[in-house]
Amino acid sequence: MAIQIGLVGTGTVGGGCIEIIKQHKESFLRHFGIDIELKWVCSLNPDEAKAHGVSDLFTQDYHDIINDPAVDIVIELIGGVSIARNIVVEALQAGKNVVTANKALMATYGKEVMELADSMKKELFFEASVGGGIPIISPLKHSLIANEISTVMGIVNGTTNYMLTRMSEDGLDYDTALREAQDKGFAEANPTADVDGLDAAAKIAILASIAFNSRVTIDDVHAEGIRNITPLDLEAARDMGYCVKLLALAHRREDGVDVRVHPTMLPLAHPLASVNGVFNAIYVVGDAVGETMFFGEGAGSGPAASAVMGDVLECARHLQAGIAPLVGCTCTDEVPFVPMEKLDTKYYIRFAVSDRAGVLASMANVFAKYDVSVHSVVQRGRQGDGSKVDLVYVTHTAREASVRAVLEDIVKLEDTVLAEPSLIRVED
Ligand code: HSE
Repeated sequence: MAIQIGLVGTGTVGGGCIEIIKQHKESFLRHFGIDIELKWVCSLNPDEAKAHGVSDLFTQDYHDIINDPAVDIVIELIGGVSIARNIVVEALQAGKNVVTANKALMATYGKEVMELADSMKKELFFEASVGGGIPIISPLKHSLIANEISTVMGIVNGTTNYMLTRMSEDGLDYDTALREAQDKGFAEANPTADVDGLDAAAKIAILASIAFNSRVTIDDVHAEGIRNITPLDLEAARDMGYCVKLLALAHRREDGVDVRVHPTMLPLAHPLASVNGVFNAIYVVGDAVGETMFFGEGAGSGPAASAVMGDVLECARHLQAGIAPLVGCTCTDEVPFVPMEKLDTKYYIRFAVSDRAGVLASMANVFAKYDVSVHSVVQRGRQGDGSKVDLVYVTHTAREASVRAVLEDIVKLEDTVLAEPSLIRVED
């Protein structure tokens, strides 16, 4: 008897799933013995179902799927946390297994839905919620569980990686890079979720929860985006042997876990430094395995549908073998979060300053006052009439709170700082 599937959402990812099922259904059976049947397709848009040739399976009411006792797996692909949350919750309550691509749902209500799945003895899969087609949830939940994971660090937003690549390689400014990303369909008309780091924050919350066996929600993640990055900073970084990436970082430290998203200077030799354009990559360090990196396309119909259908087939395999559920919620530990002000890292700071005697000396006093040790300082080119220069500092490892205090005092120095300083954290 085939495993019956109900699909909710016929947009880019849902359409990709329908096409994969149409093309490979026979192969799933022949090669893996997995027999699946698409029973329902639910969407608000009948034309989308028609375009994929599945009008005969179409409904506009997801309750038709939830209430059908024959349905084994519900695929939720509408996104968001309102109706999607109802669909996932109601499906689990009705005894269905669920596959979702919904990062916002998992990063916000992950605990609720995972616990519900566990209590119903059903499975909840969400590989496509992070990194599109890149397998990362499953490796963290299966292949790497023999490790204590110390770091998960990734480029998990293709839009901003595309923009930073264009800004760095071709000297585009932020606005031009954004317009180009929008023209190419990578960035939304309202780009906030991508450029302000919120999309990446949801994704690292999900990864950190699994890697550290501790619930991390999007609200626990400090997120800064790329709006303030200038070609000047990218050029200065390159001259020092670094690139700038919007990184989502999760580190296990002695005093807790530190989870954040912000532009980061990375040495050009780092494996993540060569990940350009819309590609994503996630770098994971475990105590036994050492360094690993997962690379691929982080968005788009094919990659996301590949991840969703991988989950569906895994779930179907378990159901056929009578062994589901296999892996439920693994967030068993209460681990404290390290607040941003207690972060210890290196900093790149660029000040646009008046080019006159005594400026360096007065700034040096402020660094000394807060015990922030300077690794290097470089004065870069005169601009305009020559009265303004950029001073680029790189610090040794310092406390975030101390660096913030340095910035606050320096911008108050009389007739010194001419524009908002740029600050980029450095990851070695
Ligand atoms: N907007 C995301 C990105 C893809 O640019 O990578 C969906 O998570």
